[in-house]
Amino acid sequence: MLLRYKKAYEKIAMGLLSYMPGEKSVKKLQETIHQYENDENWQLYLLKQDEDFIGLVGIILDVDSYTVKHLSVNPSFRGEGIGSQIIAKLKDLFPDLECKSTEETALFIKKCRQKEEQQHSE
Ligand SMILES: CC(C)(COP(=O)(O)OP(=O)(O)OC[C@H]1O[C@@H](n2cnc3c(N)ncnc32)[C@H](O)[C@@H]1OP(=O)(O)O)[C@@H](O)C(=O)NCCC(=O)NCCS
Repeated sequence: MLLRYKKAYEKIAMGLLSYMPGEKSVKKLQETIHQYENDENWQLYLLKQDEDFIGLVGIILDVDSYTVKHLSVNPSFRGEGIGSQIIAKLKDLFPDLECKSTEETALFIKKCRQKEEQQHSE
């Protein structure tokens, strides 16, 4: 289940965000969180599985698209399809919008797209 960020999730969100390259210092992490708290177009979601928050995705909404700016999965849960699941859930949440990526998220999003195309052609 993707849950929209709220202040109560600040610590867990910062922990997950810190796995992103470029989000290593506490100062940078706080700036990023503030951007998600204050800019309506910046939206942060956490993936909850059972009782644990195991993934995070941050997007920037535009008129006809959203850009995946931050994406991370708790290292204990990687390689189990969670990252791809988060990208699929975003698509369900915003079915009419195009999914775009940044330099940092591009390769993974491309991989998700390729896997999806493969599944459809099977
Ligand atoms: C990137 C990330 C979210 C993937 O999460 P995940 O739950 O392990 O992803 P999935 O299980 O759905 O997919 C795993 C596949 O993605 C590949 N992959 C992992 N990180 C990747 C990356 N940065 N770019 C491209 N492919 C990547 C894996 O090699 C694996 O490939 P395979 O299916 O051919 O074996 C996770 O590795 C992570 O949190 N990384 C640290 C944060 C980060 O670097 N974010 C920026 C990139 S999105």
